[in-house]
Amino acid sequence: MSSKKLVSVADYQYAASKRLPRIAFDYLEPGAEDQVTCQRNRDVFRSFEFQPRVLRNVAQVDLSTGVLGARLGLPLVVGPTGFAGLFWPDADKHLAASAANATIPFVLSTASTSSIEDVASDCNHSGTRWFQLYLLKDRDATADMVARADAAGYEALVLTVDTPCAGKREASMRHGSRLPLRLDAEKVIDFMKHPAWTLQMLRYGQPRLANFPHSRRAPFVMEAHLKRDIGWDDVRWLRSVWKKPIILKGIQSVDDARLAADQGMDGIVVSNHGGRQLDGAPSPIQVLEHAVQDVGNHLAVMADSGFRRGADVVKALALGAKCIWLGRATLYGVAVSGRPGVDHVLSVIEDEMRRTMTLLGLRSVDEIDGSVIRRVSASS
Ligand SMILES: Cc1cc2nc3c(=O)[nH]c(=O)nc-3n(C[C@H](O)[C@H](O)[C@H](O)COP(=O)(O)O)c2cc1C
Repeated sequence: MSSKKLVSVADYQYAASKRLPRIAFDYLEPGAEDQVTCQRNRDVFRSFEFQPRVLRNVAQVDLSTGVLGARLGLPLVVGPTGFAGLFWPDADKHLAASAANATIPFVLSTASTSSIEDVASDCNHSGTRWFQLYLLKDRDATADMVARADAAGYEALVLTVDTPCAGKREASMRHGSRLPLRLDAEKVIDFMKHPAWTLQMLRYGQPRLANFPHSRRAPFVMEAHLKRDIGWDDVRWLRSVWKKPIILKGIQSVDDARLAADQGMDGIVVSNHGGRQLDGAPSPIQVLEHAVQDVGNHLAVMADSGFRRGADVVKALALGAKCIWLGRATLYGVAVSGRPGVDHVLSVIEDEMRRTMTLLGLRSVDEIDGSVIRRVSASS
């Protein structure tokens, strides 16, 4: 499909599935186990309908908003995604540059394939950068990463709390998506069917975990580094060493949202990791409203998982989210054509948000509230 014909995130998803070999798309796309949560993340948006208002002079629609002291051009964040270099060389840098261009934050993953320092120095623009932290088994290594993010000017720390181990993603297991790549006949044939990607990989080499010294034994396998015995004492430790805002990503219950507020967190992302961790976990949209009611006055409540359309974003803002993080949507863009692909995916979602708000009679993000949507009952 020519990029001129790509008009939705679903088009980009399809184009990415064509360009990437199986090992890469099987890492990008599937959720855990039976993918029930993954599917529900999309289906849940259908259980809301809009309540438009008319004759409201919508000649100007302002999509800007504010979160954690940053002014955003759109109520979006490009969320953290590890191993993005598997989709396009220097993918993290393209995602960061594109986010800066749209005046929205970019979150660099602990498992990024460009380093904390490289992404910071590549950004000779005024983009907002946040760093996503996985707690590592080695406390000194964790502290070192936090110090590096601080020194490199990252403005907030995002602690991902839903990953004491990786979810069971069966397509990856079945088709050997693990790095370093081990070649077998099946992979060689698949690579030959995807020459553009394969030539890029041959030219730039296999991506590696860039934030870990290459001398360490496992430069490719994130799970080997993850700390399992994580608790709220780790959060308190982090609060004591990081003076800028901290966001907990992967909150899935109101009780944990309350604990996050009690611990002085600045924000939470209600998220099920795009359905990649616990299959059967609730969709963030089901938890969001209650979390906002409970802790929305104490910290910034954000959400991700399943957002593919501007209308999805408007629905979540109506339920009280401050802004929405994108995962796969921007990865599809980078996988299809690098930076221009991400730019275009963001502009597609922006355009859909603008149209949705215009058709709803809304002139600014501040005007989006609970009155613009209602739940559709199963019988209607
Ligand atoms: C390929 C891929 C890699 C990811 N890597 C990370 C990561 O390193 N750290 C993290 O906190 N979340 C990671 N996530 C989860 C995303 O940040 C986000 O929570 C999720 O993708 C949102 O769901 P969506 O893809 O349906 O938008 C990853 C997601 C994908 C698809």
